[in-house]
Amino acid sequence: MSSPESAFSSLFKEIDGLKEHFITRLSKAVSIPSVSSDLTLRPKVVEMAHFLKSELTALGAAVELRELGPQPDAPDTQLPPIVLARYGVDTSKRTILVYGHYDVQPALIEDGWATEPFELVQKDDKMYGRGSTDDKGPVMGWINSIEAHQKAGIEFPVNLIMCFEGMEEYGSEGLDDLIFAEKDKFFKDADAVCISDNYWLGTTKPVLTYGLRGCSYYSVTVEGPAADLHSGVFGGMVSEPMIDLVHILSGLVSPDGKILVPGLMDLVAPVTEEESKTYDTIEYEMNDLYAATGAKTNLHDDVKRTLMARWRYPTLSLHGVEGAFSAPGAKTVIPAKVTGKFSIRTVPDMQPHDVDELVFAHVNDLFTKLGSKNKMEIKLLHDGKWWLSSPSHWNFEAAKKATKTVWGVDPDLTREGGSIPVTLSFEQATGKNVLLLPVGRGDDGAHSINEKLDISNYIEGVKTLSAYLHYVAVEKME
Ligand code: BES
Ligand code: ZN
Repeated sequence: MSSPESAFSSLFKEIDGLKEHFITRLSKAVSIPSVSSDLTLRPKVVEMAHFLKSELTALGAAVELRELGPQPDAPDTQLPPIVLARYGVDTSKRTILVYGHYDVQPALIEDGWATEPFELVQKDDKMYGRGSTDDKGPVMGWINSIEAHQKAGIEFPVNLIMCFEGMEEYGSEGLDDLIFAEKDKFFKDADAVCISDNYWLGTTKPVLTYGLRGCSYYSVTVEGPAADLHSGVFGGMVSEPMIDLVHILSGLVSPDGKILVPGLMDLVAPVTEEESKTYDTIEYEMNDLYAATGAKTNLHDDVKRTLMARWRYPTLSLHGVEGAFSAPGAKTVIPAKVTGKFSIRTVPDMQPHDVDELVFAHVNDLFTKLGSKNKMEIKLLHDGKWWLSSPSHWNFEAAKKATKTVWGVDPDLTREGGSIPVTLSFEQATGKNVLLLPVGRGDDGAHSINEKLDISNYIEGVKTLSAYLHYVAVEKME
């Protein structure tokens, strides 16, 4: 095969020429509200899987939709299928396995969106819409790359195995089992893995990512009276579930972010000197945090500690309370049953099982100390494992060259605070290196209102993913 660079000029020209077509493809994807956590929208998640299948089939890929059976916590609902696709079966080429997710976070215009969330709206060279950056843009990126090669008449440099799931935002229910079941079948000849499902750290410098935090997610339910009560009639006469719950939740974390679960921090691997130095050269400023959050509510004043809080230490967040009165106005109700939700982002060397034990013991202890006659139940909803790799592998070297080619700079090597539960599973099942190669920017607002993807990140992203495939096809294995 000829050198990677010889393909780039006509390939990149083709990608530029297909810009509007690629934007239309992303518009179609964003217009399908494939929200995995909303059971009423499950048909839309399934529709999204079929959309991917038809786009890929039209380009000549072999596509299967793998059913995963019923959803464990909602047995009347089927999990959305995993889209497994393969493009190319040339044994003389390397085989690259790519992963992405086609489900999205919920979004309602009344949450504060400036535009309809499930419509891709262009403004100032950005495309707004739920899933634009997380993760429909990058998933379309792989499909666009195949199409651009075909239209430019350039041979695709690798065999591409694609695995796209529809439950990532809900903890990747069912995918782990499939990955291990297929390790010697569908994923057998993968030489390396690439996941495009994270973001640059800031807004100008590309990154490659070699670490993610895990996520252990819990619910704590307190219930007492058989039905909601009038606070004027029963207040002061009965134990209120909401009061108990607020006490429990406030015993989990302090306002300055300190986790109050005894023994939890003992599970964290100490920071080595060598590791500490890696933070000194990362391009990040406190202003990046202010811009991304739209506020100056930082817990730490220096950049290094701030980044470490995101990548290197566990954090505990409180997410919401089901069953609590939350409508506008002043309703004098005592809710009969409330469920608080919280999660812990985990880091090396925290083992999910040890974390669960400490959390359960602490919550039980907090509740016992209240001396309440209500009933309390703590549950683990899902746990995703953290992942930490080494960025010196040839898989990363290929991505560094691709980034330099397209963006003209060497990428920063970063870890991330978010979680992609199956990353470690892919690494363990295939025994191959996993690389995280992001398309979007740090201010894209994934999971937030007004999520966007810059048009330049989308189009240059297709070039970056394509260039990566060309380099990884020929990169020397070390
Ligand atoms: N794309 C994110 C993962 C991510 C977030 C990577 C931030 C880097 C930075 C992914 O879609 C996601 O949000 N995952 C969930 C997983 C959870 C449900 C286990 C997350 O991190 O909350
Ligand atoms: Zn994502």
